[in-house]
Amino acid sequence: MKLVDFYNLILEAERAGVEVLKELITQTEDQPLQELLKKFLRDEGLNCRILVSLIHDLGSEPGQKTGSFADKVRALDSLEEKTELLIRGQEWVARKIREFRHLLPAGSPHLFLEAIKVQHEENVDSMKKG
Ligand SMILES: [Fe+2]
Repeated sequence: MKLVDFYNLILEAERAGVEVLKELITQTEDQPLQELLKKFLRDEGLNCRILVSLIHDLGSEPGQKTGSFADKVRALDSLEEKTELLIRGQEWVARKIREFRHLLPAGSPHLFLEAIKVQHEENVDSMKKG
């Protein structure tokens, strides 16, 4: 895996996350869950901007793709199943960052991706609590 491909992989996942969260927020009346999902949405949007910036730093243009995750969530019927898959998606991102973080240059890229990893781990924890 090349560094730019890794950034694009995570970018696609974060874009999918933005789509999924926007939809889920409209599908629940549960206020605390809505607040949690809104927080995730802000994070995912910020992550997209960080990743686009890191890709530009490499002299590349970010890909335009959105991960297939969004369609997988859409295909499910109940909110329970959707949030269950959302948790697995959050775990997937944290796992991919652990798997490929050896590619990351020291300094900002390493720190930004570490922050994205921790954020996803925290999201998993808070959703499992809820
Ligand atoms: Fe995410």
